[in-house]
Amino acid sequence: VTSLDIAVIGGDGIGPEVVAEGLKILEAVTGPAGPKVTTTEYDLGARRWHATGETLPASVLDEVKAHDAILLGAIGDPTVPSGVLERGVLLPLRFALEHYVNLRPAKLYPGVESPLAVERVAPDGIDFVVVREGTEGPYVGNGGSLRTGTPHEIATEVSVNTRFGVERVVRDAFARAQARPRRHLTLVHKHNVLTHAGHLWRRTVEEVGAEFLDVETAYQHVDAATIFLATDPGRFDVVVTDNLFGDIITDIAAAIAGGIGLAASGNINPERRFPSMFEPVHGSAPDIAGQGVADPTATVLSVSMLLAHLGLVDEAERVERAVAADLAERGSAPRSTTAVGDAIAARL
Ligand code: IPM
Ligand code: MN
Repeated sequence: VTSLDIAVIGGDGIGPEVVAEGLKILEAVTGPAGPKVTTTEYDLGARRWHATGETLPASVLDEVKAHDAILLGAIGDPTVPSGVLERGVLLPLRFALEHYVNLRPAKLYPGVESPLAVERVAPDGIDFVVVREGTEGPYVGNGGSLRTGTPHEIATEVSVNTRFGVERVVRDAFARAQARPRRHLTLVHKHNVLTHAGHLWRRTVEEVGAEFLDVETAYQHVDAATIFLATDPGRFDVVVTDNLFGDIITDIAAAIAGGIGLAASGNINPERRFPSMFEPVHGSAPDIAGQGVADPTATVLSVSMLLAHLGLVDEAERVERAVAADLAERGSAPRSTTAVGDAIAARL
């Protein structure tokens, strides 16, 4: 890898603030001797929508597609009707770029406090990864309203699960499980109620599992999974689940592993047909936007995932180690967004 061409979407709220720190780390870890980093910023989100009414113009999508990867801050703003930016910017990027693997690691780093009782975290610690399907499920927008505003209003939101879509994400999750020491994969769904989709997922795990006989599999209904995430997170290694269940359980996963300020993610197109997109799991946090107090750690860890995805494994590990060292020595004194970025950069 001799060059990195990154599309940068700061987006809304604290997005641009945390992304600036992520880029600081990217520059610091690659250094003058490393690959040449080029960044192009794209103005997407509330500001653009208010100014032009646009969400994700086709020309911007085309330009973004030409990069090696995307670094995204956050999309969503209280001054814009709910759903407009989410359905207009973020989800179209995930769908158009075939980010069917939404990868969300949950790792409790030394020195970081979990809200769980110590004995619940020990002895296995928290170190699992959720492979959230990213392109299907109830997110596809297959629904509608009838008789809106009447007492007989009907709203549907149909979950779409294709054999193709389920199989490709399940296969990816098996491969990730196989590459980890524990080789364990848990399917999380709700097949006792969502019988159609649930059985498709279950059958697919069974069938694909025949290609991965060294991976042990387990199944949990999503409601039970939330109990185990709060009482016995050590049982999880790799979790594969649908788009909406994955959205929900990865917030719990973030909470038990030190908070949403530390949770990183990658929206990955494993075939590399399109650039993958890396973003903190947290949102735009409008209540603290512009104050310079947001924790950029989740974005920095997302940069580590970006580097690993692009084959810069050594750089990725250096960033993760720098974050781990910073976390280990982090006191309770509040630090500004830039101070955290500087402290991590100084360790590189
Ligand atoms: C996330 C977010 C998004 C999602 C929203 C902003 C559309 O909650 O990345 O988890 O639901 O996927
Ligand atoms: Mn979410």
